[in-house]
Amino acid sequence: MDMTTSLVDHTFRKDVRRCFENRTYAIPARWLYDRRGSELFEEITELPEYYPTRTETKLLRDNGAAFAASTGTGRAVIEFGSGSSVKTPNLLKAIDPAAYVPIDISGEFLEHSASLLQEEFPELPIYPVEADFMNRVALPEAMADMPKLGFFPGSTIGNMIARTSVDLLRFMRETLGEGAQLLIGFDRIKDVQTLIDAYDDAAGVTAQFSLNLLHRINRELAADIPVDRFRHKAVWNDLYARIEIYLEAQDDVQFSIDGHSHAMAGGQKIHIENSHKYGLRDARLMLRAGGWTPLREWSDELDYFTLMLVEAHPLKHAP
Ligand code: TRP
Repeated sequence: MDMTTSLVDHTFRKDVRRCFENRTYAIPARWLYDRRGSELFEEITELPEYYPTRTETKLLRDNGAAFAASTGTGRAVIEFGSGSSVKTPNLLKAIDPAAYVPIDISGEFLEHSASLLQEEFPELPIYPVEADFMNRVALPEAMADMPKLGFFPGSTIGNMIARTSVDLLRFMRETLGEGAQLLIGFDRIKDVQTLIDAYDDAAGVTAQFSLNLLHRINRELAADIPVDRFRHKAVWNDLYARIEIYLEAQDDVQFSIDGHSHAMAGGQKIHIENSHKYGLRDARLMLRAGGWTPLREWSDELDYFTLMLVEAHPLKHAP
């Protein structure tokens, strides 16, 4: 437990120092999710402007029969980055799986959500695996002969740049093996104002969520960043088809972190998140680059979000 805490602490410190000392002005998005950040993100998912969670959950709820028809029952469902597993029951109810394997990097979260799920599905064998899914993951022995279905909702793939996404898809193929299927969510390209509003809501919850990162640095790294002089900024980058989130200094600011002094000029920005959006053909090409063959797709009536079912076909000889 102490080991984990200090390791997290160490990595956080290293990432924040790189931002300000090497002047990369970028901090990995994973640090947004401390206790307060996770609470605020929960709030975001309920905002009228934030369509992704609501739309994907509805897709999962409405298409159960079609999932069952496409994947069959009796598979082992392996969820990558299961977190609180809130979207999972919809899928499990639909396809009546033989086992459920939530994979998450946070062991604490994992045990808790696994036990909640076990209450809802008392007969279902659940095997939580604490691991970093950005690598090949060794699945429990009991899974060896079961047909598998990977589950990767939340358009988490959207937060990765293309080459990281492809790496991840290839690792998932290694983890699950040939013949496995994967159900994966993609947030679609749509009109820019809808996208901006989803990442900059009227009530300012998203701004609070972003700015909490600076509060966290102050809390955990003996810093005195003047948070009220930073502004949350969501920008659409059309060339990369992504929303970029920044914290922008409103005027010249000085502060210290860990005893080191830093200055930022007004207008200077810290990059804290990318959220890539996909066209159907973009998504299919990326999946194929990662070794997955598209089988079926489900979108909402506005084409805001798409769930794709893909399969790890044996590689053919054609180039
Ligand atoms: N990564 C999620 C997404 O792209 C979470 C998120 C929502 C987010 N709003 C945000 C991350 C604002 C950073 C800033 O939808």
